[in-house]
Amino acid sequence: MPETHAPPSALPAPAEKAAHVRRMFSSIAPRYDLLNHVLSLNIDKLWRKRAVNRLGWERAPAGTYLDNCAGTLDLAVELAKRKAFRGRVVGSDFTYEMLQNGVGGGKTRGVPIGPACADALALPFPDQSFDGATVGFGVRNLADLDAGLREMARVLKPGARLVILEFTTPGWQPFRGLYFFYFLKVLPLVGRMVSKHSSAYTYLPESVMNFPEPPELARRMEAAGFSGVQWETLSGGISALHHGTKTG
Ligand SMILES: C[S@@+](CC[C@H](N)C(=O)[O-])C[C@H]1O[C@@H](n2cnc3c(N)ncnc32)[C@H](O)[C@@H]1O
Repeated sequence: MPETHAPPSALPAPAEKAAHVRRMFSSIAPRYDLLNHVLSLNIDKLWRKRAVNRLGWERAPAGTYLDNCAGTLDLAVELAKRKAFRGRVVGSDFTYEMLQNGVGGGKTRGVPIGPACADALALPFPDQSFDGATVGFGVRNLADLDAGLREMARVLKPGARLVILEFTTPGWQPFRGLYFFYFLKVLPLVGRMVSKHSSAYTYLPESVMNFPEPPELARRMEAAGFSGVQWETLSGGISALHHGTKTG
């Protein structure tokens, strides 16, 4: 049998994923926002706006919302700063340093956001406590995607909406080829130089390529307790936005 030489992978074994992900984000936290905006050419800001537009928060503008895997709180801020918003947003993440950098940067000053350091697979919130939830670039990092989706369904009120923003890969050439050159060659190089972390920006493309395609994610949201699940791709298929309603 010929010997195979699999390329080294930045993906951790499933049992080590949570600890690996937390270590990685705690180490890149100070540079996370800068790299996000530079590496996405600021397109991430438009994606977050679109995600909040899909949340349907206008039906309960004084409600309580969860931004899960909130990191440095950009998505939470995008919702909490909306003019007609009268409620509050809980920004939950299990990496303390990410939340700390979000709060410390001053972007949450005067904005109704409460950070919570918590694991998305065991949220410390009662059943049916939120009027809606968002997750930006978080579900891909969960050690158990289905358990994470079920946990979000648990804490949402019946009729509340979950919006998931996540990377995907474009399907059409020649954009797909160009994109993979950027994603597999340029991004890891720039990411490594700026973050000083050896593998975080290699983990990023590898984790995206190992994540379910949009139709499969939609199916798993339905299996976890969401109905009317719809999805759209953004920016030529670089990312995808899913939303669904907690069945009641
Ligand atoms: C790529 S960052 C996204 C941050 C932010 N939502 C954004 O849009 O920029 C992923 C975040 O998910 C968090 N995360 C990953 N697994 C988690 C888990 N099991 N529980 C809570 N947070 C988790 C990480 O700590 C990290 O802050």
